[in-house]
Amino acid sequence: MIEASIKKVDINSLPQVAEIYNQIFRPVRTVENLERRFLGRHNPLILLAEAKDRSVGFFVGYEWKPSTFYGWFYGVLPDFRRQGITSQLMEYAHRWATEQKYARFRIECFNSQRPMLHLAIELGFDVLGLRYDVDHKENLILFEKALG
Ligand SMILES: CC(C)(COP(=O)(O)OP(=O)(O)OC[C@H]1O[C@@H](n2cnc3c(N)ncnc32)[C@H](O)[C@@H]1OP(=O)(O)O)[C@@H](O)C(=O)NCCC(=O)NCCS
Repeated sequence: MIEASIKKVDINSLPQVAEIYNQIFRPVRTVENLERRFLGRHNPLILLAEAKDRSVGFFVGYEWKPSTFYGWFYGVLPDFRRQGITSQLMEYAHRWATEQKYARFRIECFNSQRPMLHLAIELGFDVLGLRYDVDHKENLILFEKALG
């Protein structure tokens, strides 16, 4: 277990998010692409997890609808996994979303993202359903958790 420092940052820190994102996910996303995703979104939450004097993980989310906050993307660099860092990011995001008066927290996860499926169950999420993502040609599992 690593005690990470979780920092809430603003949209100006998207270059740091993109740097971590692109070490984890494919296809790569430009900062402009991430910025575009936030256009018109209400209540964005951007978190960076720092450990050993560097950013090793991130979380980005925004309001899905007035009752529900959505965790869009999150991840931790491979060398820092299984040390509780995403759990700490999620704990921060859940606390913040509760303070913001959201009743539910939603995440979606590809069927192939097995570590995330384990984590979602571990964190107490319920399976809400399934949807087919035409861009990735893969099923996404929808999870939700009641807040508060
Ligand atoms: C999924 C991911 C975010 C988990 O991050 P993490 O910081 O390693 O997660 P944590 O250390 O907080 O894990 C907490 C618990 O979740 C479960 N878990 C996490 N990864 C697991 C794995 N690979 N296999 C089985 N269980 C796992 C375990 O119960 C773990 O507790 P334990 O280590 O005490 O057994 C990380 O593997 C990752 O970045 N994957 C690639 C990106 C991704 O899939 N993002 C999610 C979709 S956007």
